[in-house]
Amino acid sequence: MKLNERRFSVGLLKGDGIGPEICDATVEILNAMKLPIDWVEVPCGDATLKTQNSAMPASSIQKIRELKIGLKGPTGTPIGTGHKSANVTLRKSLDLYSNVRPAQNLPGVMTPFQNVDLIIVRENTEDLYGGVEHQVSEDVVQCMKILSRPGSERICRYAFEMARNLKRHKVTCVHKANIMKLTDGMFLEVFRTVAADYPEIEASDMIIDNCCMQLVTKPHQFDIIVTQNLYGDIVSDLCAGLIGGLGVAAGANIGKHVAVFEAVHGTAPDIAGKDVCNPTAMLLSAVMMLEHMYLHEEAGRVRKALHKVLKEPKLRTQDLGGTATTKGFTQSIIERLNQ
Ligand code: NAI
Repeated sequence: MKLNERRFSVGLLKGDGIGPEICDATVEILNAMKLPIDWVEVPCGDATLKTQNSAMPASSIQKIRELKIGLKGPTGTPIGTGHKSANVTLRKSLDLYSNVRPAQNLPGVMTPFQNVDLIIVRENTEDLYGGVEHQVSEDVVQCMKILSRPGSERICRYAFEMARNLKRHKVTCVHKANIMKLTDGMFLEVFRTVAADYPEIEASDMIIDNCCMQLVTKPHQFDIIVTQNLYGDIVSDLCAGLIGGLGVAAGANIGKHVAVFEAVHGTAPDIAGKDVCNPTAMLLSAVMMLEHMYLHEEAGRVRKALHKVLKEPKLRTQDLGGTATTKGFTQSIIERLNQ
């Protein structure tokens, strides 16, 4: 069977808040292209929390494991109390160790800098996200930061392999090894060892606080950033701000056998159900998914239609200064798929 005759079954996890709205918009656009995709809805989030006492039940994880590809809307996690993050559970259970988050300016979206073009490669399964916390005494609590050498090695290698494949010239390791000498010190040491296998790619490192300042003053110096889970989470929201906000920042969780594509943003409870959210971040995550499936021509077609809409100020959603509803924005893209 030729590649272009292959059909794909994709697990669709709609999630919470604006999740169903951005998933429906994205599926509508891809379905309008008659792509070889069969959607398999996989329950998660508040719905399964009520019925199965888990926001990411084992049966849903197993379904995504079998399907090998997922498109996921955001899921809510209560602050300071309540259930464990559905995301952390999914990423850890399927060993989706690499969280890839590109930050590239979009045509027509005005931002303080133009031509920002960098990719964050965030380690997705270790670090403070293990949720290993305990109460030492009434007034003292502890959270364990756990990094492993193999975990650090594979994410650094992933970043350098990506640089080689995409013909990018530089990888910057972002860390705090001046203070956390053992954990971040090992991450940096591993980074330097891996870098030696890629002599054609420039390897540099930067302390996380300086990196934040550099990103908002001289973002063009960055190409690929590789970093740990928590730093990567924070820096990718910062980078979303550089390119127009959370409504346009795409991402992918990649493992050895399974990949789940999802926007950087959360459930946006302040605008959920109002038909005003921007589905761009989710759509661009789906574009990454199409590229992952080697449907490059189709991915290009979606990008082109999206760019045409973004270039017309009044067709944009509110977060980008426009007046379009989510549904209106989606229709505008569909109308431009064949232009
Ligand atoms: P958030 O990303 O949901 O919202 C932050 C701000 O960005 C809000 O003002 C929101 O309206 C805006 N925004 C986000 N996405 C947008 C879109 N597509 N279009 C227009 N505006 C958009 O972050 P917040 O409020 O901190 O988190 C809300 C919930 O989401 C929390 O429960 C959190 O745990 C969860 N979350 C889930 C993620 C995931 O499932 N991947 C990622 C981040 C947060």
